[in-house]
Amino acid sequence: MPFKRFSRRQFGGLAGSSAFGLSMMLSARSSTAQSDQATGIQNQRPPSDFPSGFLWGTATSAYQVEGAVNEDGRGPSIWDRFAHTPGTISDRSNGDTATDHYRLYKQDIQLMKSLGVKAYRFSIAWPRVFPEGTGSANPKGLDFYSRLVDELSANGIEPFATLYHWDLPQALQDRFGGWTSRDTSKAFADYAAHVTARLSDRVKHFFTINECSRLVHLGHGLGADAPGLKLPQSGLNQVRHHVALGHGLAVQAIRAHGRAGTRVGPAENAVSCIPAIETPANIRAAEIATRELNAGYLTVMLEGKYTDAYLARAGNDAPKFTADDLRVISSPIDFVGLNVYTPDHYVVAADNERGFTLAPFPASFPHMKASWLRPGPEAIYWVPRHVAKLWNVKSIYITENGTSGSDQPAADGTIYDVDRIMYLRNYLTQLQRATSEGVPVLGYFLWSLMDNFEWSDGYEQRFGIYHVDFDSKRRTPKLSAAFYRETIARNAVA
Ligand code: BGC
Repeated sequence: MPFKRFSRRQFGGLAGSSAFGLSMMLSARSSTAQSDQATGIQNQRPPSDFPSGFLWGTATSAYQVEGAVNEDGRGPSIWDRFAHTPGTISDRSNGDTATDHYRLYKQDIQLMKSLGVKAYRFSIAWPRVFPEGTGSANPKGLDFYSRLVDELSANGIEPFATLYHWDLPQALQDRFGGWTSRDTSKAFADYAAHVTARLSDRVKHFFTINECSRLVHLGHGLGADAPGLKLPQSGLNQVRHHVALGHGLAVQAIRAHGRAGTRVGPAENAVSCIPAIETPANIRAAEIATRELNAGYLTVMLEGKYTDAYLARAGNDAPKFTADDLRVISSPIDFVGLNVYTPDHYVVAADNERGFTLAPFPASFPHMKASWLRPGPEAIYWVPRHVAKLWNVKSIYITENGTSGSDQPAADGTIYDVDRIMYLRNYLTQLQRATSEGVPVLGYFLWSLMDNFEWSDGYEQRFGIYHVDFDSKRRTPKLSAAFYRETIARNAVA
């Protein structure tokens, strides 16, 4: 990895062998460039600040934290239906109560405040606002978000709202077949218009759809997420198109109904392509791969066309679309949100038709607690860099990054989640590399504020920096909460 840091052993050895011992270590704190006379190794890290005004935040989503699924007129969502279907969730749980954030949101805002975060990314549950998906709105649904936003503002925390984090009103699935129909794309725009008209006096940043790619693939291809469909390739490609269309229509609706200054963009987990070795040829190959492997998502949103290779590969299964659809999908956006967890591909330049080879992952590649989550900190450097370079994007937010862990309390009761700290420290070091090179990343939302309902993994994968006891709903900081607080306070990796 391209960064140098003392290991604990090195540091202890230096201090122990030095005639100055502790006093030298202490004085090193007040002088940046001082180095050990014998070794020349600096006693303090070179400056590694994030840009001033960098926005530190945390993120959650409605179904994963709120609970209260039958409160205040909320309608059922496809995730209620899916989670209550036997065989879908590994621990047979569901989001019926989750972390009870719906009731405990004020307390949760105090947790954020104690971390020092300046922004909170949450999602709005469409079935709270339109229990039937369309038609008459349920005012009590939006009231909750209005109270949440006011409480955030009162505590100096900026709200960033995601309009769709996968909890489609079940009524739309029943009526239209959900995202298999463009009626859902249109209904999404109507809902987006309604929300922005009422919240954009206080919410300045809206994300349209969280991770189009996962909801398409896991929800409609593999059947592992709601609505649990396993469509043939043609159907899957059509869903992908409708989701992208929903994004574009929502961008237009937000522009039409939001107050001046309302900003909008997607929150996508772009397929991440990392140059296996940082040579100019591999970097170029990784850019080409990024554009091709995200053809149905960021590429069409930012270029207004599907790539030739995407359409050729799809052949007869290609989505049906009009030129107008493409114009809508590529409606101008204000920023790109990127969820970055893991390197999807290490890329090597190749003299083949595509211009790249995707290196297979060796069986020995490590992973975090979740087997899909391979740590590759450089992903958070390369993904925003590729996006900025390929599409001349000027504003990027890291809308999610984090890891689950086993999170067992030690004998003294503390959860020493040093694996999560290791992960975050390495990713943030790479993110700092990006910002220091001018990649326009404006903020970072750690996933997640607290443990929550991790979709088909139920409550078995804990991503929070606050531990949640799902019986008592008690929140307790893990050691990583202190790490994040320190990082925010320094505006530099701690
Ligand atoms: C999603 C979150 C999820 C996280 C960890 C992202 O795909 O947006 O909802 O909890 O990853 O799996």
